[in-house]
Amino acid sequence: MINYLHLIADKISEQVPELERDEILRLIEIPPSFDMGDYAFPVFQLAKTYRKAPPIIAAELAEKLQDEVHFSKVESKAAYINFFLNKAEFSKIVLGEVYENAYDFGKSDMGSGKNVIVEYSSPNIAKPFHIGHIRSTVIGNAIKNIYKYLGYNTISINHLGDYGTQFGMLITAMKHWGDEEVVKADPIRELLKLYVRINAEIEEDPSLRDEARDWFRRLEDKDPEAVRLWTMFREESLKKKKKVYGMLNIEFDHYTGEAFYSDYMDAVIDELEIKGVTKESEGAEIVDLEPYGMPPMLIKKSDGSTIYATRDITAAIYRKKTFDFYKNIYVVGSQQNLHFSQLFKVLDLMGYDWAYDCVHVAFGMVSLEEGTLSTRKGNVVFLEDVLKKATEGIYEIIKDRNVEDKEKLAEEIGVGAVIFQELFNDRIKDYVFDWDKTLSFEGDTGPYVQYTHARISSLLEKGEFNTEDTVDFSLLETEEELDILRLLYSFQDVIIDAHEKYQPYYVTRHVVDLAKAFNKYYNSTSINVEDLELKKARLALSYGTKIVLHNGLEMLGMSAPEKM
Ligand code: ARG
Repeated sequence: MINYLHLIADKISEQVPELERDEILRLIEIPPSFDMGDYAFPVFQLAKTYRKAPPIIAAELAEKLQDEVHFSKVESKAAYINFFLNKAEFSKIVLGEVYENAYDFGKSDMGSGKNVIVEYSSPNIAKPFHIGHIRSTVIGNAIKNIYKYLGYNTISINHLGDYGTQFGMLITAMKHWGDEEVVKADPIRELLKLYVRINAEIEEDPSLRDEARDWFRRLEDKDPEAVRLWTMFREESLKKKKKVYGMLNIEFDHYTGEAFYSDYMDAVIDELEIKGVTKESEGAEIVDLEPYGMPPMLIKKSDGSTIYATRDITAAIYRKKTFDFYKNIYVVGSQQNLHFSQLFKVLDLMGYDWAYDCVHVAFGMVSLEEGTLSTRKGNVVFLEDVLKKATEGIYEIIKDRNVEDKEKLAEEIGVGAVIFQELFNDRIKDYVFDWDKTLSFEGDTGPYVQYTHARISSLLEKGEFNTEDTVDFSLLETEEELDILRLLYSFQDVIIDAHEKYQPYYVTRHVVDLAKAFNKYYNSTSINVEDLELKKARLALSYGTKIVLHNGLEMLGMSAPEKM
């Protein structure tokens, strides 16, 4: 599709060779209101070169920039040159592109040949998957989809917390008080119980701690009984987690958790020593990060056991070797900011220049209206329950509607509503989860956008819309139509910005804006009118809107139902 910014920059650059094209691109503005034009170029910069007053320069340059094909008007106002789109041409360009690409509209191949790892969700397996985890899961999935849309070869990794001393604790607890059948029946709850119990019992009987340490050591040494129990914990918990991923329609390419790297760790610890990155401190191995204003990173404890950090260093190196990534993205809460700064610094100190291709995409906390969710306070809210509650809430709203398969639809809307709320704001902000707002069909919500999509679908059906029909796009020329066209036109730029900044909410806001613009249009304009040509043009615009809403929702990880 033609890029107006580039077109204008090229035209100006022909007339004004004194300015670099990039500089011109930077100077072009989008005026605050469209009555002032679609694009504007300020000429102050040229006053020195031409030794003339800016308004004179603007007037003279505007004369030379006339282009009736693309612009209905190119005029100077004071020191600015304002460009007004030729509406007929603009609709032809935008909808022509929609027709040509259909559901590929907005996609790009800018990322082709580049491997991008998106690591997200990464829960600790024997622990509950509570609503706080939804953030990493939903944000990470959207980022992965956004990269995919732009042609990157994405690799999604769930870096499960499936290793570490807590597994020694769990095995110990299992041996003393556990029942394998009970654990299998309700793994997450039972394992949590055992974990809480062993923590309490250790206070009374510190020898349990040695026992746990010993079990973890046996696990590291691949003792069959330790491995058997650990495998059972992992598989049973993962089954549960996958059920929730299924509700969210999320799949991972790899479930390579922390344990996966255990075999590779020794080599990395040696490498750290050989390169002189680590040093000994009170029997432990650490990396001194004081010169970089950070506390030291612990690599190996004095008892010889490795930790979370060791596995992250190992994982990063493994990923580079295996996938030769262009970017290695970690979607993890901002509580771990320091951990990732340390990690990337250590990789840098090891001499890996790709340390700079590793990105920590942090996010803020989510709380429910009643207060912060924390395991300690006991008010754990399970993600699965949240999704179920949302689905039930929506079911109540739609149960009397004349649509097929209400259960499935309620799940699509309910789960979508939760995802949408999650992705509505800058990820770094803390936010309060609000039930009423999330499930509402009005305002900035998932159901509202999905509903608009469904409404357009039935509109197209009623109007017997057919992509084979020839359409005179130039019939679209009202301001409302133009507003919609502008949002279709800028869709790809929004995706590109979202991928550069790792901010799915750019996409969320864009689809809400489009849904609003369309509903405004729909309320003021009849679409299926008598005049066949006009009807076809209006349906074509509706079709373009449907595609962008559909693709936007899909990118966010939501369904786009045809009927609601
Ligand atoms: N399992 C960790 C937790 O729940 C998150 C892991 C994040 N990823 C990583 N590569 N460190 O806190």
